[in-house]
Order: sequence, then structure tokens, then C-alpha cells
Amino acid sequence: MSQNMLITMDEFTIQETRKFPQATGELSALLRDLGLAGKIINKHVRKAGLSDILGQHGATNVQGEEQMKLDVFANDTLINILKNSTDCAGIASEENDDHVCYEDTYSANSKYVVLFDPLDGSSNIDVNASIGTIFSIYRRVSELGKPCTEADFLQPGNKLMAAGYIIYGSSTMMVYATKLGVNGFTLEPSIGEFCLSHPNIKVPENGKIYSLNQGNTVKYSEGMQNFLNFCMENKKEEGRPYSHRYIGSMVADLHRTLIKGGIFIYPADKSNPKGKLRLQYECNPMTFIVEAAGGKGSDGKGNILDIIPTELHQRTPIFIGSKNMVNKALEFVQEKETVA
Ligand code: AHG
Ligand code: MN
Ligand code: MN
Repeated sequence: MSQNMLITMDEFTIQETRKFPQATGELSALLRDLGLAGKIINKHVRKAGLSDILGQHGATNVQGEEQMKLDVFANDTLINILKNSTDCAGIASEENDDHVCYEDTYSANSKYVVLFDPLDGSSNIDVNASIGTIFSIYRRVSELGKPCTEADFLQPGNKLMAAGYIIYGSSTMMVYATKLGVNGFTLEPSIGEFCLSHPNIKVPENGKIYSLNQGNTVKYSEGMQNFLNFCMENKKEEGRPYSHRYIGSMVADLHRTLIKGGIFIYPADKSNPKGKLRLQYECNPMTFIVEAAGGKGSDGKGNILDIIPTELHQRTPIFIGSKNMVNKALEFVQEKETVA
């Protein structure tokens, strides 16, 4: 693409918004704010090896995990940018115990709230592998003009207005989904803008890559173990054995799944009977994106997006990716569950 053909994310978002004459532009502004946060976090991620920013911060977050310095930096950046914008009534973050309301007049009159996992895959920082930021945007259910409430953050994924992620990989990309579809934008460092590089992303219906922490196999259910055997079975005419790929950053594993197809699974297991990944910060936004791209996300029983959250930091098992591959995994998992 020649330089003068570049379409920036802002230009693209504004064009999309114009399809809805009643739109106020608040959602576009929020996406721009999130893009700005992504650029600032990106700048710090890129120099992580050079500065004293690597290593643990010394605090433990609400999930009992050690926070890395970059987690804290990313969290603060998002909280401040959204606070200073006029389009966000409040936020909830994987790194904070409770939601945060912005109580100034502009914020109290904003119709959206944002949830985020400020830095996903943070155990990969020290080894220079891809990490990311995941975000979700809901229209608030509480009264405009007043501070937001917890109910705004406990909405099911099927109420999402938009969701996306920024991946700090070999290049930096922002991918976001609305009900209109999924588009990807690559950061052009010379102009400091995300530019449309992956229009109208569609996840292939079939895939050949399965992605999960295979080291946990002994803790998996019989159905899950049977599915793994199916993936590894040598049936060349059916395209098996499949390849196994697992980075350990959900953003990175899902980005590959979105583009190449396949399945990503973090099931319930003996150590994590409710799964490990968080419904509101990780599983809902990723399912919204994958569904908008034609794929599927399930907790093993039903659609992730239909789960009514009861607490901010709840976890869920997840099976997500190419529709046919997810359906196949569910066949195995559900077969053993009904027999037992
Ligand atoms: P986070 O860095 O936000 O805590 O998330 C880590 C998550 C997710 O990105 C990844 O898919 C998963 O943890 C990896 O878990 P295992 O190490 O148990 O496989
Ligand atoms: Mn995460
Ligand atoms: Mn995180």
C-alpha cells in the first residue's frame, strides 16, 4: 500500500459512524482514546529491555498474581486517559478490586463504561514474546448524569457495543469489533497512527491448529483428553494430526486463531474448576470479536456471551475459534459429561 493510500483508524471509524446518522461520535472518540493508550503502552513495551521497567512491581493483584511493572503502568495509563476523556463514565480493570467511577460532570453524562485487561500475557514480558491489552465497551444501564454503578459492569457479553485488543507483537496492531464486523490496524511508527491493514477479518470456518496448555492434560476431563487424542491422531486424509501452538498470551494465541483459524481452549481442570480466564476482561471481548468475524466461543455448555456475570472478576472455561473446530471439541466434551 502506498503511503498516500493509508487510512488511519480514526478516519475509518468516523466513516463507519457516518452510517448511523443518530450516532453522537462518542464511541469513535472512545476508540481513539483506547488507541492513544495503546500507543503509549506500546512505547514502554518497546523499551522494556532497556529501562528499569522489567521485573515485578512487588504488589499482588486481586487475583493473587504478582503484578509486573508494565501491568501497573498500562493500568494507570488507561485509567488516566479515560478519566481525562469526556466519553467514559467509569472503568473496571483486571488489576483493580472494584470498578472506578469518574465523577466529574462530563464523565457522569457519558453513556459508556470500559472494562480492560491492561496487559495480557504479562509472564511473557521477560522473554520478549507478544503481549496485549484487551478492552470492552458497554453502554451503561445506570442513570445518565449520575455516577456509574456496578450493574454497568456486570452486563453479559451480548450487550457489548464494541470490543478489541492491541497486540504488542512483531508489529503493533489494534483490532476492534463492532456488530458491523472486525477490522485490524497496524501502527505506522513514522506517523504514529494505526492504519487499516486487515479489513473485514473473517475467521476461517475450519482450522488445523489447537492451542491450549497441554501440560495440564492430566488435570483435564475425559472428554477433553479424548479431544486432544483426536487432534493428535494421524489421519492424513482428514488433515490430522493438527499442529499445536501455545504462546501463553491469550491475545497472541487469539490473534493467530482469528487470522489462521483453529481453536483456543482454556478448559476447567482439577486446579481451576471454573477455568482460569476472566469472563469480563478476556473471554467476553474475545468471543465478541471472534463471533463478529464468523467464529464461535463457548464455555463448554453455551455461548460465553449469554453468561450473566455475578461478580466482576469471575472466571469461565472457554472454547473459541473456528466454528467447526469449536463444535467438534464441544462434541467430545459434552459426550462424556452426559454419560457421567
Ligand atoms: P494475564 O497476563 O492478564 O494474567 O493473563 C494470562 C492468561 C492468558 O493470557 C493466557 O492465555 C493464560 O493466562 C495462560 O495461562 P497458563 O500459563 O496457565 O497456560
Ligand atoms: Mn489476561
Ligand atoms: Mn493482565
